[in-house]
Amino acid sequence: MYTFRFATEKDFQKIKVMMLQALIESSVAFTLTYSEATNASDSWWNAYLNNFFDRKRGSMILSFNQNELVGMGGILFNSYTKKKHVGELVWIYTDVGFRQQGIAQKVLKELINLAEENKLLKLNLSVINTQTKAINLYKKNGFVVSGIMKKEIKNNDIYQDLILMEKFLA
Ligand SMILES: CC(C)(COP(=O)(O)OP(=O)(O)OC[C@H]1O[C@@H](n2cnc3c(N)ncnc32)[C@H](O)[C@@H]1OP(=O)(O)O)[C@@H](O)C(=O)NCCC(=O)NCCS
Repeated sequence: MYTFRFATEKDFQKIKVMMLQALIESSVAFTLTYSEATNASDSWWNAYLNNFFDRKRGSMILSFNQNELVGMGGILFNSYTKKKHVGELVWIYTDVGFRQQGIAQKVLKELINLAEENKLLKLNLSVINTQTKAINLYKKNGFVVSGIMKKEIKNNDIYQDLILMEKFLA
């Protein structure tokens, strides 16, 4: 029913729109704010999203309902020699109207497969403590809590903890 594939430059606008939608709808889930993202220059967006189109720096898995983008998840590889074995998962998001149907699960699985193909030793991610759906999803997929950064994020005047999670790969 849904299709999944790697993002390319042609998806730039759709990804940007979905990221902005995520920053409004799930503002607490992400470190970037909607106003920071909308005020960011075109060159910032180009540089940022290009990370996901260049298979060396990272990749992004997109989920479509026909031509409509309904879910996404990104992986960033590390360019530093001492951290080349570590990848970071970012921008895991499913459109509200398409949740609870296994889309994020499939996106996550594809990102884990890619990390394994690239022979990474482990994947890291960070998630705000209130995002229980996301935390459950990560735990179900073998991520464990590796640390808690207390009061790391200030969301609407409330300090929140950032949960660090990691998964060692096969
Ligand atoms: C977290 C998030 C990405 C999950 O997306 P999703 O596509 O709904 O995730 P899935 O459908 O794969 O799994 C979610 C739940 O649906 C259930 N599910 C999967 N397929 C299902 C189906 N066919 N029928 C019913 N339930 C189903 C899963 O078991 C899971 O249940 P659980 O939460 O009780 O474990 C989504 O809620 C989201 O975008 N949240 C806001 C942003 C966010 O927090 N991102 C993380 C940033 S670190």
